[in-house]
Formats: sequence, structure tokens, C-alpha cells
Amino acid sequence: MSQGLVTMSYIVASSLFILSLGGLSNQKTARRGNYYGMIGMAIAIIATIMSDAVTSYSILIVCLLIGGGIGAKAALKVEMTQMPELVALMHSLVGMSAVLVGYANFMDSTSSLEGVEKTIHEIEIFLGILIGAITFSGSVIAFGKLCGRISGKPVLLTGRHWLNLGLLLAVITLGVLFVSAAQTGHGSWPLMLMTLVALVFGVHMVMAIGGADMPVVVSMLNSYSGWAAAATGFMLSNDLLIVTGALVGSSGAILSYIMCRAMNRNFISVIAGGFGSSGGGEAAEIEGDVQTVDVKEMVALLRDAKNIMIIPGYGMAVAQAQHTVNEITKLLNKQNKNVRFAIHPVAGRMPGHMNVLLAEAKVPYDIVYEMDEVNEDFPDVDVSIVIGANDIVNPSALEDPNSPIAGMPVIECWKGHVTIVLKRSMATGYAGIGNSLFVRENTRMLFGDANESLQLVLKDLQSKKYG
Ligand code: TAP
Repeated sequence: MSQGLVTMSYIVASSLFILSLGGLSNQKTARRGNYYGMIGMAIAIIATIMSDAVTSYSILIVCLLIGGGIGAKAALKVEMTQMPELVALMHSLVGMSAVLVGYANFMDSTSSLEGVEKTIHEIEIFLGILIGAITFSGSVIAFGKLCGRISGKPVLLTGRHWLNLGLLLAVITLGVLFVSAAQTGHGSWPLMLMTLVALVFGVHMVMAIGGADMPVVVSMLNSYSGWAAAATGFMLSNDLLIVTGALVGSSGAILSYIMCRAMNRNFISVIAGGFGSSGGGEAAEIEGDVQTVDVKEMVALLRDAKNIMIIPGYGMAVAQAQHTVNEITKLLNKQNKNVRFAIHPVAGRMPGHMNVLLAEAKVPYDIVYEMDEVNEDFPDVDVSIVIGANDIVNPSALEDPNSPIAGMPVIECWKGHVTIVLKRSMATGYAGIGNSLFVRENTRMLFGDANESLQLVLKDLQSKKYG
């Protein structure tokens, strides 16, 4: 394929990626956005395969088959609840490829670059490996935390900020050493030492972040993986990779900002580690009596209600209760009840987790609201149904300054008339802290798997007549 045609294909693919991002910004156009992305990626892969840059088709085909096979198997096998850790794992692979491409470029003896161009290329290699290594080790730790293999509790080393500063100074020094040594064909030691420092920094950064702040880390690593891809694009002189990487990097950065705002966190404090987990004393113990309800009592409460708010959380994803929730919603709507959904920005384990599940179950978009849109309406809500949510409805965020989630906006369902909480036990949520909502005077607990409980509620609702 001629270079002109490759460039043309890259421009088309870049445009499709931009259209894809535009489409993904709205639920109604998200499906179209996905198609744009898929077509763009297909064009990008075909154009790259056909370009002059490929010299060995046998290696390429073997790699494509192995990579494509693993990807297809993972996509078919992975449960919706494991999606966040799969994404974290994917980010680590982007980081690893940036490191490998960086080393391959460094060892490439065929390069004819000289003078300033050579220096720029060395800086590209250095930065590409730096971002790639941080992304790789940080994502591996994030994967471990998201799937529960590593504790969600922050590991706060004494003098950790000094350690971070030391690592930053070491990277700068090694960068200067590398660029000057690389002029004479050396520099492998500073490069390897920097890789080690970057790997340590990635581990330290994510280990120091507490459970409740993980959403920011996930979106931040998403952003880093984009910059790692862009750096790889510079090293390989591949314009499409630069554009795509920059799109992912900047959209991830915007998402991190939105996440921080949603959680009332300072971005720098989060990445410096341990925000919200080091200040003050112990979080208050939760004391009080729990009031339980059974299915019949819940149905009676729903029958008398006019305004109903459903608040889904991670437990809805675990129980896969979204389809039953949709059936119940349809039934209640038929009874002229005003049913709405309140979505917290960090509900579940990945951005938009609840919206994806509700869209999959075909819950109409126009009854799904962001937390900010409905938080003031709770005094008029007759019944709130909390489905497998915990941290996002924890009053301690507003009432206990020592709570690890202090300051994070939460869905204030306790201001409504009655709240019914569906969960299996009194266990804590992801942040590992007690929740005083469960012992409030106007809260009723319905213990059990959310889907099983809701199936019974649905059955009971279906068998009842309403006037
Ligand atoms: P969580 O605080 O994790 O609480 C989920 C609750 O669901 C648990 O307390 C659990 O209680 C219950 N549950 C689990 N399986 C269930 C089932 N089969 N049936 C009924 N209940 C079930 O979830 P949340 O309120 O959605 O808050 C999200 C948390 O995750 C926040 O701390 C957030 O910072 C963090 N996080 C979010 C993200 C993103 S980007 N959204 C990423 C990483 C971390 P039982 O065990 O008693 O049933």
C-alpha cells in the first residue's frame, strides 16, 4: 500500500475515533459511537498491516492470532462484574508495550538520526518508557485491588511524600545522564535504573490510595495508558498512534477531573496517595438497632407509595438484578407511580457501571438521573430502594469528619420517608467502613441476594390488584 493511502486511511480512522468519542458522550448515541470506533480500529489495523513498515508477515500473523485469541476469549468469558479489573489489566498491557517499544528503539542500530533529531528521539524513548513503566506497575496493582487479591486499605509509608519527591529527582537525574550518554551510543544503565524507579513509583502510588479513591486511579491510569500509546506513536513515527493516544490520554484526564469533582477530592492529593485516610482519628463506630422487612412488607410500602427512587450500587451488578428491576419499574409505572433512578458517579466499580447495566435491561433513559439532579428531591420521596449500594449512600461522608469518605457527596436517601436496603448482610462496602444508614429509624433492611429478593417482590406485585 502506498504511503499516501496509509496516511489517508489514518486520517479516516482518526476522524472515526473522534466521532466515536462524541457518540459515547450520550446514551442515545453510544451504540453508534461504538460502531465508529470499531470501524476506525479495523481501518487502522488493515492500513498498518498493509504499510511498508511491516517486513515480516509470518511473525505478524502469529502475534495477531495469539493476541486476538486471548482478547476474544477474555471478552467472551469475563463477567460484567470483572470488567473493571479487565480494563486495568488492558491498561497494564499498553504500558508494557510502550516500555518494550522504547527498549527496541533504543537498541535499534539502523537509526540514522543525528544531532537535535537524535536527542529528541532519545527524550521520546525516555519519556515513553517512563510513562509506560508507571502505567504498567500501577495498573497491575489496581488490577489486584479491584479483584480483591490486594487489600483495598491504603499502604501509607512514613515519609511517603519524601519518597515520591526522591523518586522524581532520581528520574530527572537519570534523564540527564541518559541523554548525554546516549549521544555516544551508551545510556542503557540510566535507562534501566529509571525503568526500575518508574515501576516502584507506579506500585507505591496505587498502593497508597484508599478503596474509596480507586475510581480516580482507574480513570487516571486510563489517561496514562493513552499518553503511553502517544509516546509509542512518537517513537514509531506513527501519526495515528499519536492522535489516538492523545485522545485517550486527554479524555482520561477529563474523566479523572470529573471523578475528583464528584468525590470532592483534590487530584494532586489523590495521586500523592492516601487522601482521606491519614487525617484525624478513627471513623465512628455504628451503633443502633436494625429494622428488617420481608417481601410482603416491602410490597405494602411500595403499594402505598407515589414517589419511588431506586438507587443501584455494586451489589446490583453482582446479583445481576437489573432485568428484575426493570420489570418491577414497568409494573409500578403502570400503577401511575413516579419511579426514578438515582445514579452516583462512582457507583459500582467503573465509570458508568450502573448506566450500562440499566441500559442493558432497557430501563428508559429519561427516568435515570444523576445524583445532583435528584438529591434535593428526597423529602418528597415516599420509598427509596437501595439495591446493593453501600458507600454511595453512607451518611458518614457528610456527618463524620473522620470518615475515610468524609466530604464525598452521597445520595441522601435518608431524607426521604422510608428507605429499603437490599443486601445480604451487614458487611461494609468497598471503602470498608460502617454505614449508619442501616440503623436509621426510617430504614428497613431486606436481607438476601438482591435479585432473589426482587424476584419475590415482582411475583408479589404481579399477584396483587391495585386500585
Ligand atoms: P459498595 O460500597 O462496594 O457496596 C456494595 C454492597 O453490595 C456491599 O455492601 C454488599 O453487601 C452488597 N452486595 C454484594 N453482592 C450483593 C448481592 N448479590 N445482593 C445484594 N447485595 C449485594 O458499592 P457502591 O455503594 O456502589 O459504592 C461503590 C464503591 O466502589 C465506592 O467506594 C467507590 O469509590 C468504589 N469504586 C468505584 C469505582 C468506580 S469508577 N465506580 C472504581 C473502583 C472503586 P453484602 O455483602 O452485605 O451483600
